[in-house]
Amino acid sequence: MSSIQKPVDELSEREAAEELAYLAAEIARHDMLYHGKDTPEISDADYDALKRRNDLIEAHFPALLREDSPSQRVGAAPSLTFQPVVHARPMLSLDNTFSDEDARDFVASVYRSLGLLPDHSIAFTAEPKIDGLSMSLRYENRRLVTAATRGDGTTGENVTANIRTIRMIPQTLAADAPDVVEIRGEVYMAKSDFAALNAEMAAQGKPLYVNPRNTASGSLRQLDAKVTASRKLRFFAYGWGEMSEMPADTQFGMVEAFKAWGFPVNPLMRRLFSADELLEHYHHIERERPDLDYDIDGVVYKVDRLDLQTRLGYRSRSPRWATAHKFPAEQAFTRLKGIDIQVGRTGALTPVARLEPITVGGVVVTNATLHNEDYIRGVGNNGEPVREGRDIRIGDMVVVQRAGDVIPQIVDVVMDERPEAAETYRFPTTCPVCGSHAVRDINEKTGKVDAVRRCTGGFVCRAQAVEHLKHFVSRNAFDIEGLGAKQIEFFFESDDENLRIRTAPEIFTLERRQEASLTKLENIEGFGKVSVRKLYDAIDARRSIALHRFIYALGIRHVGETTAKLLARSYGSYERFGSAMVGAGSFSGDAWHELNRIDGIGEIVARAIVEFYKEPRNLEVVSRLLEEVTPESAEIPVSTDSPVAGKTVVFTGSLEKMTRDEAKARAESLGAKVAGSVSKKTDIVVAGPGAGSKLDKARELGIKTMDEDEWLTLIDG
Ligand code: IVH
Repeated sequence: MSSIQKPVDELSEREAAEELAYLAAEIARHDMLYHGKDTPEISDADYDALKRRNDLIEAHFPALLREDSPSQRVGAAPSLTFQPVVHARPMLSLDNTFSDEDARDFVASVYRSLGLLPDHSIAFTAEPKIDGLSMSLRYENRRLVTAATRGDGTTGENVTANIRTIRMIPQTLAADAPDVVEIRGEVYMAKSDFAALNAEMAAQGKPLYVNPRNTASGSLRQLDAKVTASRKLRFFAYGWGEMSEMPADTQFGMVEAFKAWGFPVNPLMRRLFSADELLEHYHHIERERPDLDYDIDGVVYKVDRLDLQTRLGYRSRSPRWATAHKFPAEQAFTRLKGIDIQVGRTGALTPVARLEPITVGGVVVTNATLHNEDYIRGVGNNGEPVREGRDIRIGDMVVVQRAGDVIPQIVDVVMDERPEAAETYRFPTTCPVCGSHAVRDINEKTGKVDAVRRCTGGFVCRAQAVEHLKHFVSRNAFDIEGLGAKQIEFFFESDDENLRIRTAPEIFTLERRQEASLTKLENIEGFGKVSVRKLYDAIDARRSIALHRFIYALGIRHVGETTAKLLARSYGSYERFGSAMVGAGSFSGDAWHELNRIDGIGEIVARAIVEFYKEPRNLEVVSRLLEEVTPESAEIPVSTDSPVAGKTVVFTGSLEKMTRDEAKARAESLGAKVAGSVSKKTDIVVAGPGAGSKLDKARELGIKTMDEDEWLTLIDG
């Protein structure tokens, strides 16, 4: 991403539309990496910068607002494996603030909106923003009944069994607690517990976890609660959803009540009375940050009085009475010792910086991503200069930046310290692994040259084939215990054809081939008799596998976990999916249109899937795989006992309590069908202010109409 972008007010309408399209796709991709796969690619700060740019362009060009705009969504769609839970009150997001000045603006805007004079002091709370997973805990009659993740804000995942293993979370509440209590807060893993877990992984020669947040997320999304129990997770309470009675009338008082009911609350929360005091506490927390045993990424300010919160109300997905003041990313200087080129599963050549080890924000960094060759040259994704056009050379003194949890990046070069002999870096034009040409494709849609150079070796390229297999056995795909990256390398390289694994189906024929073989796996160092038996059992255990895992494991370009789940949910069975993809081969016809109609699947993704199924070699591997493995059919989780199940609903006019997407997702999760136009088949029309012809038509046809509040009352029961 470029740090120097064209100012928004200089963009033409066409440029703005193009950039919004790019941002929608890019942000969705990062959402997928972050929420779906737990493997972020860019720093939180860069992610926020993308979102801000998107918001800014939308503010200037309101007519260009896209239906799939990131500003219209709260989070990622819920995953399939857990039962969906529709939140009694939506779980919203926070607006971000990035500077002291913006924080003052927030306070000023609160005063302005409430019509208060600056000398009339009101209270705010300030507390750390915990970098974990938000959770909603529902207690009925003082017993914990449901724990749900945020999901997309409307519908989350039911993780109650896993949450019950967290000792810090009370199972029952004291007699003075109200009948219905919904506590919202953050589940996290302590830095010390994370370090201990990784030390254990290292001792066992297993791959290390990336960071506490993703590990906590992974631990919580285990279907087996015993695994969650073995990881120490913790919790901080900071908010609430539905409450049958309110124990206090301020934010601070509410949190005190939670504490009295036995919930852990953050000790750094303060009640303060001016922007100066908020900023002073922000900088205090920033100084404390390295010594805290949990990751935080900012400070949250909230208006203390609940009646004032109500008066301030909400934007589409965040409250006007709160903001998150984010910490800047951490940076340090070091020398660039060399540049390695890694070849990924899709053939992408990724330059990786080898650095003189340096501590950035408490973590020793030796590698950093350099993104692609343009980035090294000082050119950003949209052709504009980055680092004011300064290129990066081996030997340079560079600025390394690390934000929270993601791969560190090199953001700048100190020109005064460039060695005289340093030469312009020449990016290879052949694959360093297989020697095939490496090319930059032209993006069909934009006509622009791709930033990424790719090896054209395909299956010939050892790096691509190995990475493909590693992906196949990875945690969110086949997840075969005892078959990790190291073992894959070993089997791939083997000279013995009864031991060799070059494609996924060969994993499942290994045991059979071994029976006929003279070289026995159990005689090879590192594999005893017991571990070989265990490996075969682990392989056999995956002969039946969830459909979305199967699809994800195929390693189709652009198909991450979230997309795989969408596909599984939409097609239900592999037979339907596979034959539809083959049937869509001409990029036209019913099968092609059906694929493109899936909410969340854009043309680029659709093309990539169909292209995959056009390659005979892929078809062959998949069909051999299907001889060994059975993908399970996916259940489509829709509630059937809701008052709107089976009904066709049309939303029209503007909605004030939820976005269109939220309204649609929520209605669908309750079993309703959401249609775009009113017809005789329509059962309910929900009309907000500004509703026009659709409402008229509904009245004409005698269809039931209601406003947003009536709708919410209906579905909330
Ligand atoms: S208040 C209506 N307080 O940040 C807004 N959120 O970006 C309710 N978070 O989804 C959120 N620490 O997961 C709040 N002290 C804190 C928080 C916090 C972390 C997370 C939460 C939320 C996200 C919003």
